[in-house]
Amino acid sequence: MHGTDAPGPASPFRHELLVVGSANADLVVGVDRRPGPGETVLGSDLVVHPGGKGANQAVAAARLGARTALLARVGDDAHGLLLRASQQEAGVDTSGVLVGGAPTGVALITVDPSGDNSIVVSPGANARLTPEDIRAARPLLASAAVVSVQLEIPPATVTETARSLGPGSRLVLNPSPPAPLPDEVLAACDPLVVNEHEARYILGESAGSTPESWARGLTALGPRSVVITLGAEGALVSDSHEGDPVRVPSPRVDAVDTTGAGDAFTAALAWRLGLGDALAEAAAFAVRVGAAAVTREGAQASFPTAEEVAAL
Ligand code: RIB
Repeated sequence: MHGTDAPGPASPFRHELLVVGSANADLVVGVDRRPGPGETVLGSDLVVHPGGKGANQAVAAARLGARTALLARVGDDAHGLLLRASQQEAGVDTSGVLVGGAPTGVALITVDPSGDNSIVVSPGANARLTPEDIRAARPLLASAAVVSVQLEIPPATVTETARSLGPGSRLVLNPSPPAPLPDEVLAACDPLVVNEHEARYILGESAGSTPESWARGLTALGPRSVVITLGAEGALVSDSHEGDPVRVPSPRVDAVDTTGAGDAFTAALAWRLGLGDALAEAAAFAVRVGAAAVTREGAQASFPTAEEVAAL
């Protein structure tokens, strides 16, 4: 399936988006409130969803109509089967999904009545996605207009991904969960996509108090562009070659579960940038995708089609 804005036959890329990242089984429990240290609370029945920031992005883009591939590692187990099935159902090319080495990654997720979540990830097989795996997949990397990566895989694997881009490919990085980033990775980002928490982590003491100040601080670290997600407020975009940062508002929706909404936003943004949208234009589409994603439960299960985004 292809979006109406898919590139014509002149595009040299087989995939509009390649996601390099994690695949987790999400073990989700609803709670009235999260337990404090040493405390036990009762929650809802357990639900198991396919998740992981990488796998989520790939499904989100494919559901919008993007020609998408995933480069990831899962275990040779039931969770790995669940994850591969969800990718294939969405139409993602899974030829880059490696199997074995450790159990599939797991995310333990609690969701409170406001839709906010807390997540602990056991990386499992994600931690075994190595720089060698990336080098072996260079033809896949060269096949993609945009390569999108996050930080639930080893830092050396992220760096190797940034080094292995094909000619004309663009790197999108969401540093989640936040961790130190080498200068060469920061310099390759176009854009670096962060939320407030990630912006403050990267900038430390010098962060300042407004999204505009975070954008200026992050741009000074070397990325070609920066996008800051602001939850219900939308996003702020900043291109190092253009003027001041620009705010992109989000439609108002009733949030049920925010899990994976950032992944859907980043996937939509990355895809549309690869189709040739300007940064603010791609972000205006992506905030609608993120808004639609918070109105339903789960991560991948909540991601909208292009028609659902248009109807929002
Ligand atoms: O961004 C949401 C994702 O974070 C979840 O699906 C979970 O697997 C964790 O990776």
